[in-house]
Amino acid sequence: MDLKKYLEKKRIQVEEGLDSFMLKEEGLLAEHIKSMRYSLFAGGKRIRPVLCIATSEALHVDPSSYLGLAVGLECIHTYSLIHDDLPAMDNDDLRRGMPTNHKIFGEAEAILAGDGLLTYAFDLFSSPRITGSLSPDERLRIIHIIAGAVGSLGMVGGQALDIESEGKAISFETLQYIHSCKTGALITASVQTGAVIGKADDAQFASLTDYGKQIGLAFQIVDDLLNIEGTTEQLGKAVGSDAELDKATYPAFFGVEKTRAMAKEAVNAAIDCLKDFDEQAQPLRDLAEYIYYRKR
Ligand code: IPE
Ligand code: IPE
Ligand code: MG
Ligand code: MG
Repeated sequence: MDLKKYLEKKRIQVEEGLDSFMLKEEGLLAEHIKSMRYSLFAGGKRIRPVLCIATSEALHVDPSSYLGLAVGLECIHTYSLIHDDLPAMDNDDLRRGMPTNHKIFGEAEAILAGDGLLTYAFDLFSSPRITGSLSPDERLRIIHIIAGAVGSLGMVGGQALDIESEGKAISFETLQYIHSCKTGALITASVQTGAVIGKADDAQFASLTDYGKQIGLAFQIVDDLLNIEGTTEQLGKAVGSDAELDKATYPAFFGVEKTRAMAKEAVNAAIDCLKDFDEQAQPLRDLAEYIYYRKR
């Protein structure tokens, strides 16, 4: 399987979905919508929607009529990046190779763009515009999964602990918790959303959840490594900033070499979770490897 081609094909589908599902820049709210669209179309990798799509495909279900759900996941992710970059948070000037949202639109608009994207995602998840054969129970289950994953017991909580831990000595358990929540939770929820679309049975859902947790952890560990080993040109965002802010990271805890080994361990464990799935799950296996080897 050629993952590069697969990713490119899915990325284009997601871009088209984002454009068609997202509010249009017109009327009285043109400036607000412009600021949401600015960050949405700044060129992300679209890993979360692709994971959702690849998971339903692994279960032999065509996800094309559920594209709005995948798009909603990317709206939530983009909101998290806009807020993560704010001066009160990580104070970054560059994201996805472009000036951060608040640098262009100001802090108030950036906060509201994040609020708008988060809320719009739930509008999409619950919208009749999302067709396909989801029952009301399945739709509610997806909303419950995602709301739980991105709230205080998930992504927001991870972000809070990340900020509170700056400059502090924390335990390994806390570090693991931060990474699993701030980044792992939405990634896991993206896989779980694909699992509900794909009508996974309980055993499949549990295996896919474990897969999501492992790649989610690996994703943030590699993000830590890239902040040290990557370049601004490759990443489209600042490097060296974790050390400057004295962030709680795996390399700060274990050094670069051990950290890389830990990321690989998580990726191998993820692939292991898919042992009962057939060749339709190959993109998920390859995506796990991609997360380890990625340079951006
Ligand atoms: C960056 O996420 C922030 C983290 C949660 C680690 P991505 O690396 O997926 O960023 P984009 O969407 O490709 O810009
Ligand atoms: C981002 O974590 C997590 C979320 C946005 C939820 P980081 O702050 O480590 O990610 P980057 O390096 O800025 O993308
Ligand atoms: Mg951060
Ligand atoms: Mg950051």
